[in-house]
Amino acid sequence: MSLIKTLFATALVASMTPAYAETPPTVLITGANRGIGLELARQYAARGWRVIATARKPAEAAALAELAAAHPSVVIEALDVTDGAAIAAIAAKYKDRPIDVLINNAGISGRRGQALGSLDYDDYRVVLETNTIAPMRVTEALLPNVVASTQKKIVTISSSEGSISRVDSPRGYAYRSSKAAVNMLMRNLAFDVQARGVTVALVNPGPVDTDMMKGARIALQPPADAVEKVIGIIDRVTPEHTGRFWDYQGGELPW
Ligand SMILES: NC(=O)c1ccc[n+]([C@@H]2O[C@H](COP(=O)([O-])OP(=O)(O)OC[C@H]3O[C@@H](n4cnc5c(N)ncnc54)[C@H](OP(=O)(O)O)[C@@H]3O)[C@@H](O)[C@H]2O)c1
Repeated sequence: MSLIKTLFATALVASMTPAYAETPPTVLITGANRGIGLELARQYAARGWRVIATARKPAEAAALAELAAAHPSVVIEALDVTDGAAIAAIAAKYKDRPIDVLINNAGISGRRGQALGSLDYDDYRVVLETNTIAPMRVTEALLPNVVASTQKKIVTISSSEGSISRVDSPRGYAYRSSKAAVNMLMRNLAFDVQARGVTVALVNPGPVDTDMMKGARIALQPPADAVEKVIGIIDRVTPEHTGRFWDYQGGELPW
């Protein structure tokens, strides 16, 4: 092929290729081995993003391993979000690597069947450690990576159960308070990192058919549908919308 033809062919390919095709954005997802986290990894991989899919037990993450085998852009990393040393190890390994979207997804509901008079405070501590402290700790460790990226977004999968003003009957002391507290942490953070161009978002995925909701007697969305909505929200949030609590149905949730 002549030089002119080669240059023309190269220019044509470039004009047909999405802007980020050469350097696709990177997303890091916690709890990516099942449920909403796995579906987030699937959908970002399908979009051609680089996916750092973290799981606390990668050896047992068969579905995630299958995804990584089909998509070379997916890497699996071990991360128990309650383990400070593991968080530091991820931050050290990925030092200087931009992370466009950091998704704090890992979460637990706590032991079921608890009621006033029999609250399990050891269980409550684990729920707070996982749902509240861990997202903050992971975010703090990886903030330089987000700041170094193009999109600069920190997303925490919260819940409508964390909306204090919507409570009109008692249930889920540990879970509800852990999500209300992470909402506060992330809103606080939003103002701390605003000057660095970082957008912080809290997202309620709505009721989703995952292990967490096993036995629930309400209509549940398939994970694929819920995650499509969550990613739509993540795509749309901008720095002027930082520190808000978004609902999968559109609009914002009350605090
Ligand atoms: N499903 C819903 O209807 C719903 C509604 C509102 C909000 N949410 C939120 O959505 C997020 C995902 O929930 P899900 O429905 O996908 O639940 P899920 O199917 O039970 O999955 C939970 C994920 O979190 C991981 N995880 C738990 N503790 C961890 C730890 N210490 N370190 C690392 N990973 C940990 C689990 O890993 P292992 O496999 O190792 O346990 C698993 O990957 C949670 O934050 C949840 O609160 C869910």
